[in-house]
Amino acid sequence: MDKKLKVLLLNGSPRKDGNTALALHEMEKIFEQSGVEYETVQIGKMDVRGCVACGSCSQTGKCVFNDIVNEIAVKFEEADGLVIGSPVYYGSANGTLMSALQRLFYSTHFDKSFKVGASVASARRSGCTATFDELNKFFTISNMPVASSQYWNNFYGREPVEGRPDEEGLQVMRVLARNMVFLMRSIASGKEQAGLPGGEEDRVWTNFMK
Ligand SMILES: Cc1cc2nc3c(=O)[nH]c(=O)nc-3n(C[C@H](O)[C@H](O)[C@H](O)COP(=O)(O)O)c2cc1C
Repeated sequence: MDKKLKVLLLNGSPRKDGNTALALHEMEKIFEQSGVEYETVQIGKMDVRGCVACGSCSQTGKCVFNDIVNEIAVKFEEADGLVIGSPVYYGSANGTLMSALQRLFYSTHFDKSFKVGASVASARRSGCTATFDELNKFFTISNMPVASSQYWNNFYGREPVEGRPDEEGLQVMRVLARNMVFLMRSIASGKEQAGLPGGEEDRVWTNFMK
């Protein structure tokens, strides 16, 4: 197994040094120590519009709006793992991030199977688990195994520097990153030894309409 593993991290916060960044940095340190390449893209402050359902991506395999979404698509295709981090906004993931993710997953046709996914939610007080569930749905509709930790991947705080960081949250991030590295390595060697299971040739689409 000589290919270096790569992880793409997406930070949906507009705050470069915010809580989500703090949580993701803790994961980056573990990737670094483990010899895993990583790149973090902060998209929360970018001008990212939502999907307009034009359907052009069904022909081209990329989004008609040529912005950060098409740029991260290239990085995602190369990556073995994807971490999505979001601040909680009104009990949900950040809107800019959701626009980017919906367009990213809808427009790209490359095989995402067995890229490992992990999601992280940061909040002042509440809404982390709903956000965590929301983000994990991108993985579980894409044949992507989800890495987990010793607790749900939540990180608490209003401001990043409060003199009292969420120590449990930081530990959850470190364990998550280690588990993710283990899964990516195991999948890489499993691929070599046995190959991926592969989907069924004729995909069934049932729209629940007569
Ligand atoms: C528009 C907006 C909505 C928010 N909604 C919530 C919320 O529903 N629950 C919560 O606990 N915190 C909420 N917060 C606080 C942030 O989730 C919290 O400060 C988070 O840690 C910020 O992460 P960041 O520093 O990475 O941006 C909200 C903040 C903003 C700006």
